[in-house]
Amino acid sequence: ELRLCVQAFGSDDDEERSTKAHPTARYCGEQCSHADWRASHRRVCAELAAERHMSLISDIPQWKALADHVAAVKETHLKDLLQDDARTEAMIREEGGVYLDFCRQNATPETLKLLLDLGEAAGLKGKIEAMFAGQRINATEGRAVLHTALRAPRGADVQEGGRNVVPEVWEVLDKISAFTERVRSGEWKGATGKPLTNVVSIGIGGSALGPLFVHTALSTEPDAMAAASGRRLSFLANVDPVDTVRALHGLDAETTLVVIVSKTFTTAETMLNARTARAWLTERLGADAVAKHMVAVSTNLKAVADFGLDPANAFGFWDWVGGRFSVSSAVGVLPLSLHYGFPVMERFLQGMHAMDTHYRSAPLADNLPALLGLLNVWNSTFLGHATTALLPYQQALQHFAPHIQQLSMESNGKGVALDGTPLPFETGEIDFGEPGTNGQHSFYQLIHQGRVIPAEFIGVVRSQQEVYLQGEKVSSHEELMCNFFAQPDALACGKDAETLRAEGVPDQLVTHKTFSGNRPSLSILLPELNAYTLGQLLSLYEHRVATSGFVWGINSFDQWGVELGKVLANKVRGKVAEARATGRPLGADDGFCSSTSRLLNRFLESKPQ
Ligand code: F6P
Repeated sequence: ELRLCVQAFGSDDDEERSTKAHPTARYCGEQCSHADWRASHRRVCAELAAERHMSLISDIPQWKALADHVAAVKETHLKDLLQDDARTEAMIREEGGVYLDFCRQNATPETLKLLLDLGEAAGLKGKIEAMFAGQRINATEGRAVLHTALRAPRGADVQEGGRNVVPEVWEVLDKISAFTERVRSGEWKGATGKPLTNVVSIGIGGSALGPLFVHTALSTEPDAMAAASGRRLSFLANVDPVDTVRALHGLDAETTLVVIVSKTFTTAETMLNARTARAWLTERLGADAVAKHMVAVSTNLKAVADFGLDPANAFGFWDWVGGRFSVSSAVGVLPLSLHYGFPVMERFLQGMHAMDTHYRSAPLADNLPALLGLLNVWNSTFLGHATTALLPYQQALQHFAPHIQQLSMESNGKGVALDGTPLPFETGEIDFGEPGTNGQHSFYQLIHQGRVIPAEFIGVVRSQQEVYLQGEKVSSHEELMCNFFAQPDALACGKDAETLRAEGVPDQLVTHKTFSGNRPSLSILLPELNAYTLGQLLSLYEHRVATSGFVWGINSFDQWGVELGKVLANKVRGKVAEARATGRPLGADDGFCSSTSRLLNRFLESKPQ
């Protein structure tokens, strides 16, 4: 049992070491001296073994208690629950200016207690600590999960593989700070002697979505705006030539710096776009220009060198940073510091670190990310709501939902427990969203009168911008926020037939105009949206995702589900090239089903442009 329990946690080297020290167990990632090796291993392995015996969280009594509790909650209605002020008070938390109100959840104080019991029983605190302490909790890849080390203060000590990684983190941050300062000041010049004022960041998935989200959120914040004055930052992610044209349109190669961002430096789309950008630069400025106009961010510095980039122009990170958790590595910090300056990004990292510290240290009952993650499990698994709407009342957060989609759905869209046991319940909610009030005029009809979709509202007290007309402040932020406050009550309380009739609504319209209410939401209120609070918000959601995964007992840090499509695309690529070369239509021997062959033949009928 012990062998089994640690199998997923050890690398081959570690296995040999630990087998010598403790013949019935393998190394499980904990750093300890040889003297306390055996004792430490017994403890860790026993804990893991205990977990293995109950590898499915759904087998434990705390899970069953919650499942039984669903019926009681289904008998309640939010419009009644909201009358109870003590309940409301018990469902409000605040941390570092981030105000969380979850009293519009379909939950009673008893639900909260049972959820916290489940969190305890799932070993949530221990799992959080294991993550922060650098244990190899990404078991299927044998990796630590240490994105929190990326924003640790300079003097911190975060151990991974027997060494403190914080000095390495800061070495890269210092390099970013120095390089971006040289570029921004004009000291670093392009091949023709001009300063580089435009940056194109090429990357996809986690190497694009987070940085784009942060960029959009900061691009209207007055201090960040001032720091970015005269500069342009654009992103190129898709392999679609339309995206290439869009990203490069109107750019002058002489003043453009291209940043290739790829953790692996093998992602097909990014490498193709990188080659396109290199050709675009060399066609205009000559081959030597690459040294001045192209830099890279990757964990694969050898591939960066093979691509022809000077290692001095490469900014590294580490395999213990997952792509979707990499915004606070050079993936986000380099392009965003080029645009906004390093001090702005330092504030962002400080905001993230503040929320990290809270997540690591606060008791579950007061822990904002833990509460969000537990409520997410409640809504999606126990109440069966497959979808969550992310509804920021801030246009600056327009790329929040697309980023959280990847963060959450790539992390928690899993079908097996950590040990590979198929799960008898669904994990990973479907996330989607749009800033309010735009969303209200788009899909809110469905969430008010159609399907029940738990909603997460995010608002800010002070706007980044105000509009003045003829010297008068136009209160558009006030207007925006009135909607932010109104929508959760409309969802929760609804409007019944009796009220409608009393208002004189004709009988034939009463059912059409009835709102059943009892639709759950929660509200997050930030004082304002700046680099620091943005960091808090992002860390809050990173840890919300991790919490749900920890409770479900899955590995939130791998992504095997994206592999099959990539493999099949390779096969299609080969067959398309072959068919183009030979002019032979694809048939049964090519290994595709007849539907795919037909589609491909329709595509192949037209010549590539
Ligand atoms: O295909 C999914 C994925 O591996 C993501 O996890 C990752 O964020 C993205 O591709 C990009 O990967 P890379 O940074 O290695 O190019």
